[in-house]
Amino acid sequence: MYMRNKLQRFADNTRRHNIIEPGKATYTQLKGQWRTAYFSNSHDLVVELGCGKGAYTVGLAQCFTNKNFVGVDIKGARLWVGSSYAMAHQLHRVAFLRTKIEQLDQCFAPREISELYIPFPDPRPRDRDEKRRLTSPRFLALYRRLLQPGGFIHFKTDNDALFAYTLAVLCAQPIKDLVYTENLYQSEWLPAHYGIQTDYERHFLSQGITIKYLRFAFAIAP
Ligand SMILES: C[S@@+](CC[C@H](N)C(=O)[O-])C[C@H]1O[C@@H](n2cnc3c(N)ncnc32)[C@H](O)[C@@H]1O
Repeated sequence: MYMRNKLQRFADNTRRHNIIEPGKATYTQLKGQWRTAYFSNSHDLVVELGCGKGAYTVGLAQCFTNKNFVGVDIKGARLWVGSSYAMAHQLHRVAFLRTKIEQLDQCFAPREISELYIPFPDPRPRDRDEKRRLTSPRFLALYRRLLQPGGFIHFKTDNDALFAYTLAVLCAQPIKDLVYTENLYQSEWLPAHYGIQTDYERHFLSQGITIKYLRFAFAIAP
């Protein structure tokens, strides 16, 4: 089942209910309506950004039966893996959205998201790519509009420079409840990850690289 090539995965995605992507009616219809029109419940909506194969989306869905989960990525072939897993394990409170994170506000309404996870985003080390980092001020402004007041953002990385950059950016933001560790696996925050490891995380751990983690909420709603 997991051995389909890229074109076969794209074709599968067009037929799958749990893949929301451009060209489908759901892509334009769910903004502000995820709970009522897609999940048919009033549970919290947890979103994983740059989810790849959706490790947090499906992992958290198996831990929390009273929340809804949406994994977001631009790469449909990776989303297909999470989508396949969700179908095989009957995870009905899981969906995958293929879109650019820059355009997140086309698919979610202000305050619609309860919590955000950003596991192992691309570090974008070049200065000229700073605004493409998922923790740059312009992305944080976007998240702030879409998150409900007090909603946490969780961020995990192997990359020292991106972690230092993110902490520096947060210093200038109206945030609260910040916790952080430069070695998640030696910290009190490890249980908050429920044993979930992404592909990138496993790769970095196998190389002996420490995993950095931080979590915060915005202090003031926009
Ligand atoms: C380094 S990978 C990490 C994947 C996964 N989180 C993991 O830890 O295994 C970064 C992911 O973010 C996605 N991505 C990067 N920038 C994006 C953007 N602006 N919009 C949507 N997806 C993006 C990429 O397609 C890729 O799957």
